[in-house]
Order: sequence, then structure tokens, then C-alpha cells
Amino acid sequence: MAEQFVHHLPNKQEADIPKGKLFECRIIDQEMVLPHIRRLILDAQELAQKCIPGQFVHVLCNKFRQFYDPLLRRPFSIHFADPEAGHVSILFDIRGRGTKMLADKTIGDMIDLIGPLGHGFAIPDSWSGSFLLVGGGMGIAPLYFLLRTLEKRFGKEKIKFLLGVKTSNMILYRDQFEKCCSEYLVSTEDGSYGYQGMVTDLLKERVETLDNKLGCLVYACGPMQMLKEVAKICHHHNLNCQISVETKMACGVGACMSCVIKVHDTNLEYRYARACVEGPVFDSNKIKWE
Ligand SMILES: Cc1cc2nc3c(=O)[nH]c(=O)nc-3n(C[C@H](O)[C@H](O)[C@H](O)COP(=O)(O)OP(=O)(O)OC[C@H]3O[C@@H](n4cnc5c(N)ncnc54)[C@H](O)[C@@H]3O)c2cc1C
Ligand code: FES
Repeated sequence: MAEQFVHHLPNKQEADIPKGKLFECRIIDQEMVLPHIRRLILDAQELAQKCIPGQFVHVLCNKFRQFYDPLLRRPFSIHFADPEAGHVSILFDIRGRGTKMLADKTIGDMIDLIGPLGHGFAIPDSWSGSFLLVGGGMGIAPLYFLLRTLEKRFGKEKIKFLLGVKTSNMILYRDQFEKCCSEYLVSTEDGSYGYQGMVTDLLKERVETLDNKLGCLVYACGPMQMLKEVAKICHHHNLNCQISVETKMACGVGACMSCVIKVHDTNLEYRYARACVEGPVFDSNKIKWE
């Protein structure tokens, strides 16, 4: 039987996690991945050394710092970090005012951010089993960094990646993802590529075929409804699953309570956990799904 994975998240004290620092980072590359999706590569030497997959940065998106508008920073997962080059990238969808302003920035512009923030994905030091990564839409943003880290540590043969998108032209960086895992499967809601349906249906099928369910670690990121379903499937099959949640964040450092989600508690029916400091990655069984 595969070794049981002792999840570090509930035991890890906040004091053990490196606190985010304020950085001014230069944009060294800006890519229009799709008309509404951008990737920024930042020169961020110190940040690149410290961060782990699943952590995020809190970015000041405004155009002219003196106006403080929008006032609140916007959270973005660390899409990739290259400690040797000292680069960190973020991948984002242009949804509203903040991301529109961020998308207007160009190579050479400076970005004000705080990071690395939050608990990242728990990765075992050694693992004889397999890894199954499940991404929905922009949920691939933190999963790429995780994928590269797992591949480096355990080899691509142990890793499978399931991606769910609405339609085929939403499949981003397919080659890069494909070459880091042994199996890369895509589901499209409109059936324009791969499996037709939701990625959770694909997950259900793949889980059935797993030889060693106990030895499979699942990591997921995507819309909350998808994560809820992933958690249900993993719970049903007794799979260890970690998910990265997306909540609205204001301070990003645990002070304002705007990012809370309900989690199970040994003494209470539930309690509120701040996704910015106790998450954004949680053990899927810890969340009180509604
Ligand atoms: C930990 C974390 C990591 C994230 N990583 C990514 C990522 O890698 N790529 C990516 O594209 N998006 C990511 N997001 C979502 C991203 O933060 C929002 O899309 C962004 O804040 C929207 O800002 P806006 O000003 O453009 O939109 P607004 O005009 O303010 O709002 C547009 C939409 O964005 C949502 N939103 C607004 N503010 C926030 C906020 N502070 N936190 C979360 N959602 C918000 C609202 O629900 C609204 O539907 C992440 C969110 C969290 C919490
Ligand atoms: S965003 Fe303020 S407590 Fe989490």
C-alpha cells in the first residue's frame, strides 16, 4: 500500500510561512495569450527564490500610483517562478477595471506587488504514488508552477493533467503542459476538442481506472462549483485532494476578513478561515461545502 500523505497545511503555523514583502518589479515580457488573457513576466529575484506553487501575489493595478484607484490590490497566483533567472510570471484574465489597467502595462513598466502570500500546495518530499492535476479555465494559472515542480522532483511519468475549458480555443500553452506529464487530457463543454463535457465527468472516469487510489494525490484549481464536485469525487474515492480557492480579497494578509470561507472545526459546527492566510490552498475535506 502507498504511504499515507501527511498533509502539512493544518499543522503549519502562520509564523512558519515566509511573510510577503513589498516589491517593485519590472515587467520584462508581456504576452497577449488570447485577446482577453495576458501573461506578464517580472524581474523578481527575491520573490522567485522564496515562493512555492499555489502562493499568490497581491498587485496594485492602478495606472498612476498617486490616484490610488482602484484602491484595492488584486490577487494573482504565481504562474511560474524561475529562481535561476530570478523571474516570476502571472497569467490573468481581463475581467474588470483592475485587470484592464494591468493589461495596459508594457515591457519596462514597474509593478508594485506584495508576495509571496498564502499557503501553497503541500508537496511530499518523497512519493511512490501518482499525481493528478485538475484545472478548470484560468485554474491552470497556479497549476503550471505546481506541474513543473512535481515534474522536476518526481518525473513526468507519475503525473496526469486534466483540463476543462468551454471551447477549444481556450486551451492555453498546451505544448508546455503536455510535455511535463504522462497523460494530458482535455474536456470541452461544446465538444470542439477532446472529451465532451465537464472536466469533473472526465475526472470521474479517470479515477475509476486508477490502480492505486490511495497512492494518488489530486490537486485542483478552477471555479468554486467545479472544486466542489472535485472534492465530492475525491471524498467518495478516499483520495487525498488539495484545492486552491478563489475568493474576493481586500487586504490579502489576514486583517480584513473579506476572503473567508467556511471550514470544519473539531469543536464547532464550522468556523471561518481566511483564504489569504490559511489558503488559498485547502485540503478539500476541510472545507464545509454548501
Ligand atoms: C488567491 C487568488 C488567486 C487568483 N489568481 C488568479 C490568476 O492567476 N489569474 C486570474 O486571471 N485571476 C486570478 N484571480 C482572480 C483575480 O484576482 C480577479 O479576476 C481580479 O481581482 C479581478 O479584478 P478586476 O479589477 O479586473 O475586476 P473587477 O471589476 O473588480 O471584478 C470583476 C470580477 O472579478 C472578481 N473580483 C474582483 N476583485 C476580486 C478580488 N480581489 N479577488 C477575487 N476576485 C475578485 C469579481 O468577483 C468580479 O466578478 C485570483 C484570485 C485569488 C483570490
Ligand atoms: S483578504 Fe483580508 S483577511 Fe483575507
